Amino acid sequence: MAKVLYEGKGRIFSENWSGKWENPKPCGITKTMSALRVAFISDLHLDHNPGLLPLLEERLREVRASVFIIAGDMFSGMSRLEAALKRIRKCCENVLFLPGNHDLWVNETNALGNSRNIYENVMRRTVHRAGAHYLGMEPFFIDGIAVCGVTGWYDAFPSPPITTPDEKLCNWPEFSTPADVLEWQLGILESQLTLASEKARKIIAVTHTVPFLDRIKKQVSGELLAYMGSQRLGDCICRFPKVVYAISGHIHVRMLHSLPQGFPWEVSPFGYPRELGDDPKKVMMESLRLIEV
Ligand SMILES: [Fe+2]
Repeated sequence: MAKVLYEGKGRIFSENWSGKWENPKPCGITKTMSALRVAFISDLHLDHNPGLLPLLEERLREVRASVFIIAGDMFSGMSRLEAALKRIRKCCENVLFLPGNHDLWVNETNALGNSRNIYENVMRRTVHRAGAHYLGMEPFFIDGIAVCGVTGWYDAFPSPPITTPDEKLCNWPEFSTPADVLEWQLGILESQLTLASEKARKIIAVTHTVPFLDRIKKQVSGELLAYMGSQRLGDCICRFPKVVYAISGHIHVRMLHSLPQGFPWEVSPFGYPRELGDDPKKVMMESLRLIEV
């Protein structure tokens, strides 16, 4: 079973938890021998949060994790991705980057024309050049533990007049609908989880979009729910019994749910400036999460 390191209260078995976090406080953290320490965060939106990178670097040096997972939406577009990952890589040996929907936007910063090409080729090469690992196509393995990840996608976009940036800014020439993109992503996720089940003792599953829509129905209702992600991602993850932890982003709400399948699902975004209050350092303390697996 994975453990959540809850600052200020020592380690708490994650099955005791559900719902939102209380108020974490900084404290010293002692690493359990033989456990793999994994840090994660999502939705850094560095282009909206100038000055955030030094805070992230400081916190990463403090927590001394062996693995750091970035669960999507680091930038809108990818022109500054390599430089940022190179800096982060100096703070943690194994940096794992998963693109979010924003990272796959085709705009003037990348002019690459095609979100699928960005996902499968351009971004993977960029992440590797920075010395980081690219989640999205194949699992990352360390000490008998596999980290599998895909961006995920949506069952549907909302109907007009509600429009979403992904409709305009992502370009999928081979896919007609969001469900087609999702189907492609589900195939990659299933392949990764199958391979990880053969080779690893435990699996951490990462998606950017929400895999357990049934858990957020109270917060997001109506047509917008489908734009949060897809339950099909969660159903796929739940078919693999070695999964000990699920991590996501996209919805800018910090949550930790205990799932009936026996593993936790956590969302821990940083977020947009308007959501942060006046103390970004405190938000970084709260949203950069730590688990031991
Ligand atoms: Fe997102």
